Amino acid sequence: MVSVLFVCLGNICRSPTAEAVFRARSAAAGLDVEIESAGTGAWHVGTEPDVRAQAAGLARGYDLTAIRARQVSDRDYERFDLLLAMDHDNLATLKSRAQKTTHDRIRLFLSFAPELGLNAVPDPYYGGDQGFEEVLDLIEAASDGLIAHLSA
Ligand code: 4NP
Repeated sequence: MVSVLFVCLGNICRSPTAEAVFRARSAAAGLDVEIESAGTGAWHVGTEPDVRAQAAGLARGYDLTAIRARQVSDRDYERFDLLLAMDHDNLATLKSRAQKTTHDRIRLFLSFAPELGLNAVPDPYYGGDQGFEEVLDLIEAASDGLIAHLSA
């Protein structure tokens, strides 16, 4: 079974959204995959996803309610086949804490949706509701790209 860890800064907006979207879409595609999310920072550990992320996700049929924020741990580098960062800061932080031998598992999530012409999922935390819609648009596209990659 393939295992995927989605990573952002707080683990309350982007990566829990990615966890829920990819869980739903990979299940619909019949993929057997282990899915979790985590943050590079520890500020929100133990809390549920941002209410705006929960509401925006639910409006598209994604349930984020059971997710609780956690920080990336050393063991995650061994447990997961792919550690997928939402932006360049997350990518750099992940790589700085990793053994060189695991660097090929650490990638930008949007690398699976090259048609977007974007590298990063913008941090929606300090913005308005439209930011959460964009997060969902980008994550849905990259999820489908990742499913195609894993199915190939
Ligand atoms: P996330 O968004 O990384 O997508 O979960 C953020 C959540 C919280 C903060 C920053 C980004 N914060 O600074 O508390």
